[in-house]
Amino acid sequence: MKILMCPPTYFDVNYSINPWMTRKRAVKQHIAKTQWQSLMNLIVSLGAEVELMQPQKNLPDMVFTANAGLIYKNQVIISDFKYPERQGESQVFKEWFAANHFDVIDAIDTFEGAGDGLFVDSKLVLGSGFRSQADINQWITKMWSINPIAVELINPYFYHLDTCFCPINETKALWFPPAFSNESQKKLKASFELIDVTEHDANLFACNAVVIDDHIILSSGCHDTATTLEKIGFETHFCETSEFILSGGSCKCLTLRLDC
Ligand code: ARG
Repeated sequence: MKILMCPPTYFDVNYSINPWMTRKRAVKQHIAKTQWQSLMNLIVSLGAEVELMQPQKNLPDMVFTANAGLIYKNQVIISDFKYPERQGESQVFKEWFAANHFDVIDAIDTFEGAGDGLFVDSKLVLGSGFRSQADINQWITKMWSINPIAVELINPYFYHLDTCFCPINETKALWFPPAFSNESQKKLKASFELIDVTEHDANLFACNAVVIDDHIILSSGCHDTATTLEKIGFETHFCETSEFILSGGSCKCLTLRLDC
């Protein structure tokens, strides 16, 4: 498994584009670096290969590589970010993918990549409501001949799909139900065996987990979620991500799986 990450050299919270980014306190840069490094070490120790991108000054959210694009085989739909603060990232990610032999496709509307698009084997779940536009779904369906499960996000704290939903294999997924409209809850129930995450753990980004085979990396403090996962045979690991939560992201947002 190959994972793309970007060191947090320029990571900071100096604008606000989601309700977590309140600047309640400043990001502690040295702690952010240690937390990011621990996550990377853990990923490598679990057998995944990490590719690194060159961070860019003035793009503090580039560390969240999940938002670079949505990958399918050797193709990538490059994100078209909603907020101007992140729009400069598209060109940087585009160049990286082109240099790394991906077929690069520009999104036809606002779309935030693997933040709002999650593949698990043959299933693709697409989220919209805050960042990605729902009309992107039909375009993806046609282009890739896939029938995605399209869901609507309704809670601004869970503004990307990967903040409230995490497929762990083809059948099972973690989720925080109140983040979805009633209709979307029904769709997900019909497609997965869902494991509810408590409000406490959801607010610690339990659904923003990194899955590497039977290993699941969770943000520190998500004990209930860990216990539930251990009971059904998964091995869980904690990673402290307090500095990144100040920006509205955690473990999974800091990664992008390259071989999908
Ligand atoms: N501050 C970033 C933003 O609001 C956090 C992105 C988190 N990424 C994710 N895939 N959920 O855009």
